[in-house]
Amino acid sequence: MLRLIIYTGKGGTGKTVSACSTALKLAENKSNTLLISSDPAHTLTDAFAMPDLGYEPKEILTNLHALQIDPLMEMNKQYTTILSYMASLFHTRGIDETLAYELAMLPGMTQLFSLLKVEEVARTKAFDTVVLDMAASGEALRYLYFPKLVGSIGRKLSGLVGMFSGFARIFQPLSRLPAPPQSVLANELELLARLDRLHMIMINQDVTSIRLVANPDTFSIENAKRAFMSASLYGINVDLAIINKIMPTGSSDQYFAGWADYQRVRIEDAKASFYPLPLKEVKLHGTELRGIEMLRENSQLMFENQDPAEVFFRGSVFRFAREDSLLRMTVRVPFTEKDDFDVERHGDQLTIKVKNRVGYVINTVPLPAATTGMKLAKAKLQGDELSVLFEKIM
Ligand SMILES: Nc1ncnc2c1ncn2[C@@H]1O[C@H](COP(=O)(O)OP(=O)(O)OP(=O)(O)O)[C@@H](O)[C@H]1O
Ligand SMILES: [Mg+2]
Repeated sequence: MLRLIIYTGKGGTGKTVSACSTALKLAENKSNTLLISSDPAHTLTDAFAMPDLGYEPKEILTNLHALQIDPLMEMNKQYTTILSYMASLFHTRGIDETLAYELAMLPGMTQLFSLLKVEEVARTKAFDTVVLDMAASGEALRYLYFPKLVGSIGRKLSGLVGMFSGFARIFQPLSRLPAPPQSVLANELELLARLDRLHMIMINQDVTSIRLVANPDTFSIENAKRAFMSASLYGINVDLAIINKIMPTGSSDQYFAGWADYQRVRIEDAKASFYPLPLKEVKLHGTELRGIEMLRENSQLMFENQDPAEVFFRGSVFRFAREDSLLRMTVRVPFTEKDDFDVERHGDQLTIKVKNRVGYVINTVPLPAATTGMKLAKAKLQGDELSVLFEKIM
């Protein structure tokens, strides 16, 4: 069975180097590994300090293949029929053809094609493990859930074209649009089938794990927290959090010592935020992390004697349940009923203030978009689970 490991996180936190280090150690453990990057900036090439990689799997070391995805090329190779049909829809509405192609290439399509590559690789059964370096943006993770979206509602709307032509409907009534030709529909059905298979891969907790990469700073930790919540929302397992680029403590220089202290506090925050996920701490190396020697050293810091293919955590940290007009969110938190706590909602997050021996600890939990227009009705701690009830504002 295939193992798929996806690294995601805010820009510049170290997704690419973490993905490369993981892939390297897997390969050295004799797992036949494929490393995929969808970054158009060719960062795999930089990380391995190797000449340019191709768009097809290329063996870069024993047991290690790598490939760079060019989403535009993938789109052109596989879905020109759909793309040109969509472009023709826009074109018939009087939009210049060149612009029509730009519009038809909706945002998110690029990430979608990177994921479809995983589905293709899974079918060939050529690899034991696939490590995916996901593009850096909050949006990227949403595209990960695209299969589920299209899988459930796409078909009812007569598939993808139906869904995308909603866009064209803004311009003119649908009745005046040209009907999709047979070739488009055939292409579309094939795409839906692939998306279905991709979805099955993604929600299988024995197969797929998302790993969050953050730095010891508020911005990237908040970003990772949100990714963690959305992954749980869609039933995709997150098995590890990595706090990367940690400065060493004990510097005699006040400036560096100040930074190191600040980072220690952020790491403690992260431990509370990602509870009960295992968290790995990785130091900021003395120089820019690149090249095989440094990647190998880094994989040692990340995994020591563990197998990077292991599923490090399983279980639902966030759970959501609809009860008529109510939404119940259950989240595991690092404190218990005995603690004196207070829950408040601030915009799209929940602030939990807990009083302990040393004073107040504040834990924030991102809220799903579904809670917009709802108010916090009740909050209860049971064991280490906080159950929060939201109700519609009448
Ligand atoms: N622990 C570390 N020590 C030293 N340098 C590091 C460390 N982690 C990452 N770097 C360096 O930081 C830079 C960004 O890392 P990387 O490209 O892996 O981040 P990324 O999250 O993939 O970025 P992007 O969002 O642009 O894809 C690179 O120059 C990398 O070598
Ligand atoms: Mg990168």
